[in-house]
Amino acid sequence: MCGIIGYIGPERASGILLKGLKSLEYRGYDSAGMAVIDSGRIICKKGAGKVEEINKKVDFPSIEGNIGIAHNRWATHGKVNDVNAHPHLDCSGNIAVVHNGIIENFEELKKELKGHSFKSETDSEVIAHLIEEEMKDLPFDKAFIKAISKLKGSYAVLAIEAKSNKVMAARKGSPLVVGVSSDAFFFSSDIPSFIDWTKKVIYLHDYDVVEAGKEIKIYNLKDGFVSRPIDSVEWKAEQIKKDGFEHYMLKEIVEQSDTIRRAIQQKRELVERIAKQLKEARGVFLIGCGSSYHACLTGSYLFSKVAKMHVNPVLASEFKNYKHFLKKESMIIAISQSGETADVLEAVRAAKEKQSKIISIVNRAASSLTRESHESLLMNAGPELSVLSTKTYTSQVALMAMLAYTIAGRYDEGMAKLKKLYMDIYNLTSRNMRDRLRALAKRLLNEEHIYVLGRSLQYPTALEAALKIKEVSYIHAEAFAGGELKHGPLALIKKGSPVIVFVSKDDKDIIANANEVKTRGAYVIGVSHKNYDIFDYWIKTPESEELGPILQIIPIQILAYQLAVLKGLDPDRPRNLAKSVTVK
Ligand code: F6R
Repeated sequence: MCGIIGYIGPERASGILLKGLKSLEYRGYDSAGMAVIDSGRIICKKGAGKVEEINKKVDFPSIEGNIGIAHNRWATHGKVNDVNAHPHLDCSGNIAVVHNGIIENFEELKKELKGHSFKSETDSEVIAHLIEEEMKDLPFDKAFIKAISKLKGSYAVLAIEAKSNKVMAARKGSPLVVGVSSDAFFFSSDIPSFIDWTKKVIYLHDYDVVEAGKEIKIYNLKDGFVSRPIDSVEWKAEQIKKDGFEHYMLKEIVEQSDTIRRAIQQKRELVERIAKQLKEARGVFLIGCGSSYHACLTGSYLFSKVAKMHVNPVLASEFKNYKHFLKKESMIIAISQSGETADVLEAVRAAKEKQSKIISIVNRAASSLTRESHESLLMNAGPELSVLSTKTYTSQVALMAMLAYTIAGRYDEGMAKLKKLYMDIYNLTSRNMRDRLRALAKRLLNEEHIYVLGRSLQYPTALEAALKIKEVSYIHAEAFAGGELKHGPLALIKKGSPVIVFVSKDDKDIIANANEVKTRGAYVIGVSHKNYDIFDYWIKTPESEELGPILQIIPIQILAYQLAVLKGLDPDRPRNLAKSVTVK
């Protein structure tokens, strides 16, 4: 949902900003641009397209100057074109602004800004003009604060002014961190964009406004001047490189043998404390979006089967329909890789109003969701830079399993089972497996539809498999619970229709469903520990009962990846999508 980056320091800003733009491209890749102060003038270059394409046209590194801001766009207001790309300038061209979020009152503000001429269709441009208006009476820093205090909605904003040697920044509801080195400050939606320069970061809070020149001052619109601690991040620069893999998606799929181990490295007392609270709660809701919602759904089966406990999995965007059930004794488990997903945050805030307890399962330690939660379990998966969730999905499911076993009083057994997954995942992601799935992908490449079936724990796995295939290969993929087949979807099956069937140990019912589609001519791809005669193609996965969903999704992640690559698509940046969905 857009990435922003800013720099002030002794080095040429354009090189640092360009590198930052490339590393933030997963957040939005419709358009990009940068503005730098060069000898008292703002030089702004921008355009529609991917960073590298725009760079070829405008040559970002040719811009001189040490203070600048840049932006990757994921369009919300206004078409994808050069004019709507950020940065946006005021009428005089002396103020440049980049913004991530949505300014809900931009139309009202625009009407009040009489005499200003707006060039773009975006909500963001209004910020540059608001600052310009306030600068009639105030210096840049004070005008910025006054302008920001008029905004409604969500924002991470950076602004520069031609004659002021400073970067101004503000955040509310959209992520923004400050990187601090001995002689420079970096601003960014995400840490990887400046990790080559510094690992020291300040996590900004909502309503924080920052003035960065030679020093930094933080002012909170509600609390006045504040001091925020400087933390150190543990990520290594290598973790955010591709490590010889062609794409982040493949690297992150292969990393899963390791990330599963890291996910379950939790303090036992924390897990047991959360398990106890869950047992005592009156009404537990699991909420998330997309893949994280599929992890919630898998969690609901695990809680039922392992812990014999009923929980309610709800899409975060639908949660408002259930919030009247919430009480002080209710508990929410919010699952989110980014911890910045707008629908999840809204659901959590609604639950907090009812004083319900919030537990989150998050990858980003310093996210808005962790701050909103009473307790958090961190996935520890390291940065996930492909837009698709892969390693964080399996980490989420592993943490759900860990909680279910702990509630059942079987912590040691659960941990032993989870620890054993390492070798199985290692084998499932081997080069040999990847090559075999590439061969299968060639067979499926020109299909328009792929269907996926599963029952019980394998039903959410089927939903997740269909999501992975469709979002990265653009082949329509749809999942059904095996038992639903005869209630309608069977009508879709014709000769040659590919149907992926997830089979758990001894599930005769799903084999019956596989037979039903096979009889109608389907090409049956079985994902199972054992080969059945009805399979046209067998993807062998290790025998595992409750933890099957972690293992069985992995070959389909690889298949989806191979489909995208064979189609010449960029698996890390599927069209129209962005990594963290910070708008509703
Ligand atoms: C799919 C995918 C998305 C996310 C969803 C929630 O591959 O990545 O469906 O799972 O946008 O994001 P988080 O987990 O950050 O809340």
